[in-house]
Amino acid sequence: MILVTGATGYIGSHTWVELLNAGYKVLGIDNFCNSSRKVLDRVEKITGQKSQFIEGDMLDEKFLSSLFRNNPIESVIHFAGLKSVGESIKIPISHYQNNIHGLLNLLKVMQENQCNKFVFSSSATVYHPNNLIPYVEGMSLGSTNPYGWSKYMSEQILRDIEVADTSWSVAYLRYFNPIGAHESGLIGDDPKGVPNNLMPFITQVAVGRREYLSIFGDDWPTPDGTGIRDYIHVVDLARGHIKALDYLINQKQSLTINLGTGQGYSVLDLVKSFEKVSGKKIHYQIVERRPGDIAQFYANSQLAKKLLDWTVEYDVDRMCKDSWRWQLKNPNGFGE
Ligand code: NAD
Ligand code: UD1
Repeated sequence: MILVTGATGYIGSHTWVELLNAGYKVLGIDNFCNSSRKVLDRVEKITGQKSQFIEGDMLDEKFLSSLFRNNPIESVIHFAGLKSVGESIKIPISHYQNNIHGLLNLLKVMQENQCNKFVFSSSATVYHPNNLIPYVEGMSLGSTNPYGWSKYMSEQILRDIEVADTSWSVAYLRYFNPIGAHESGLIGDDPKGVPNNLMPFITQVAVGRREYLSIFGDDWPTPDGTGIRDYIHVVDLARGHIKALDYLINQKQSLTINLGTGQGYSVLDLVKSFEKVSGKKIHYQIVERRPGDIAQFYANSQLAKKLLDWTVEYDVDRMCKDSWRWQLKNPNGFGE
């Protein structure tokens, strides 16, 4: 049985679906601090399987202990965490508490139960912003905000555990920019409040929830002056987790890999692609650069291909099409 923490979140729910489709037995947990109970029905509807789920908090060690006592958990995919960079700067203590303390609770209970296969949601944000692009796994690490540091520290904690106990194998998955949604339009990204990320902002403009998109600068040193990122379809990303889990199970060793497409698209590229597939005009205004942003980054994705035989299936038009279908079918997201 695979334990998936943060199972009802954006990436967790898509990975849950892929795991069930691949025949894995899955137990999901979440405290719903950034997700909806409705995801549970939606996952069942997509997969035609009853989903096993228990509500609980990563900060509750007793809950985690009873979870491992009562279920035959063999490996863990850990998504649960807070991901807002802005919030992490404003309230670093609760951010670190959730992401670091939650991780430590989980690892302690895993250790006590001889469960030692772990897939970790890391981020491209762990690469030092001064690195040249594309980002390669061996490059120097560092961050500019508590969220990024929490991922950096989490990686370090896991590496220390691996040194102390060689029976552990860990997949450090550094995600680039996940967008898109399941093709059913039943699950997708549903940020609370004003979206920080580009794609949910675009879809909310398209559906009439927001008047226009603010583009954070058109004077970056990029061909059209807007920021460049490596957008990856969330289903391709989810499938990367299954490949990584299989690697841990079969190879019994750790791996650190980028999960990105290896291609960069600018903000204006994404707007144009979205307009093409949706038939909607995205009104935008150019505003000041967002503090902390960098001009461009994208992945070198060769290592994931080599070690996992993982490559992406979906292009940027398909990412936009699926994001739009999700938003159109659910104009207010999950409505919570
Ligand atoms: P998300 O917020 O949609 O999902 C995270 C889930 O964890 C939510 O359902 C939330 O309710 C749950 N959660 C948070 N704290 C919890 C706690 N203490 N106990 C139990 N459940 C808790 O985020 P996501 O986009 O699905 O991201 C999943 C993971 O991937 C996160 O760790 C995030 O930092 C990482 N990541 C995300 C991105 C991205 O762009 N979405 C990029 C890189 C890395
Ligand atoms: C953000 C996070 C990063 C996280 C990543 C993936 C910040 C500072 N960084 O980065 O830690 O790993 O998401 O989840 O929040 N843009 C606009 N208008 C908008 C929103 C975005 O022009 O309303 C631009 C940005 O300037 C950037 C691009 O769109 O050039 C992508 O932005 P975003 O989706 O927030 O992702 P990242 O900047 O990569």
